[in-house]
Amino acid sequence: MNKIAVAGTGYVGLVAGVCFAEVGHKVTCVDIDEKKVELMKSGVSPIYETGLEGLMQKNFTAGRIDYSTDYKSAYKDADAIFIGVGTPEQPDGSANLSYIATVARQIAESVEKDCLVVVKSTVPVGTNDKVEQFIQDFLVNDVKVEVASNPEFLAQGSAVYDTLHAERIIIGTESTWAEKLLMEIYEPFDLPIVSVNRRSAEMIKYASNDFLALKISYMNDIANLCELVGADIQDVAKGMSFDERIGSKFLNAGIGFGGSCFPKDTKALNYIARQNGYELKTVKAAIDVNKEQKTMLYKKASNRLITFNGLKVAVLGLTFKPGTDDLREAASLENIPLLLQQGADIYAFDPVGAENFAKVHPEGKNGKGSITYVSNIEHALEGANVCFIFTEWGEVKALTPETYKKLMRTPLVYDGRNIYRVEEMQEAGVEYHSIGRKS
Ligand code: UGA
Repeated sequence: MNKIAVAGTGYVGLVAGVCFAEVGHKVTCVDIDEKKVELMKSGVSPIYETGLEGLMQKNFTAGRIDYSTDYKSAYKDADAIFIGVGTPEQPDGSANLSYIATVARQIAESVEKDCLVVVKSTVPVGTNDKVEQFIQDFLVNDVKVEVASNPEFLAQGSAVYDTLHAERIIIGTESTWAEKLLMEIYEPFDLPIVSVNRRSAEMIKYASNDFLALKISYMNDIANLCELVGADIQDVAKGMSFDERIGSKFLNAGIGFGGSCFPKDTKALNYIARQNGYELKTVKAAIDVNKEQKTMLYKKASNRLITFNGLKVAVLGLTFKPGTDDLREAASLENIPLLLQQGADIYAFDPVGAENFAKVHPEGKNGKGSITYVSNIEHALEGANVCFIFTEWGEVKALTPETYKKLMRTPLVYDGRNIYRVEEMQEAGVEYHSIGRKS
């Protein structure tokens, strides 16, 4: 059992903290937001994540996890301090490291015994060297502090499962002391551990995310060509997937990748390359394809309809993927303003994302158009002239082709997630447009 402190209680920090407690460590999660800390103490998770609240309550009751704004007490005698604060994208594509710097400074001023600082946040290669130096510069007590890199590979929506059943744990260290301590902390997880140096660990994170982003953009590029030459992207993906070198995952063409990671990490690696005088052509291509892909359906629909003005437009799904309330870089955020500018009356359904979306686009009149949030998916479709599917929520997938035909004024569907078979929609009398398949 180790004494662990975790800085930051977002997806990365909170999930890591809860999972460390679950395997038996004694954890304190630190956040500057008092309200959030109180909420977590009462067993409520500030993020929507399957299974998280249950584990928070169980481990809090067992005395293995606590939440606090008092970083000094949490850091002073910790064996390891994990940093899981955000590294948001800056206008030039680089990562904003100010939150990391703030935590590093607090650590330097608080630690009273030898301690390992473990950076989980995604940071440009070489950042952890700087963090270590920064801590040394501000260190108040005569203790040893080393920094290790331990990137996170969880996906939102399955974060707890991904952490407890990770395919690999990457640890990047510069001394056997640090390596041994991290190995010890991860031992109870019983998962494969890859131990490398710090810079390689930092690079593994970017290289992995950008490879996945590239895979998606590649499939979207091929999908667009499939439409032009009369091939079907889903059949193509299926045929490709039997080759183990390609694999069957992340071959789904759609409306582009969103979320807080792929868009940010592709731009950040591109930026790092440019800083080093190198042009990362493949990653640049992934970014460019994704940009075009996001409004692909809107452009198709604009060509098909004379105007959106005064039309009832059903929007099914607002979040960047199912299983999360996160809207960051979601296709809906690009398409809905375009539809509103054109005077569309939007009826949007999302089982968990509507509240967040309403903060950006409040209900009611909005520019030339209007937006209404509905909790009943059928209300969005009733009398609609056109429907856009942006997120493959279970509630959307459960709709039969006949439902669109029955409820919509004109059954015209633009599906950014290829939920239906083209034939079944045609048989039901729905005009169906999707990605990389015939219309
Ligand atoms: C991603 C990675 O999958 C995680 O391994 C990584 O740890 C995380 O980023 C991170 O860096 O923190 P996440 O952004 O939560 O996780 O979501 P994904 O499930 O990877 O989906 C990202 C986007 O790609 C979504 O918009 C999704 O709809 C899209 N996608 C995914 C496709 O368009 N096609 C696919 O085949 C798969």
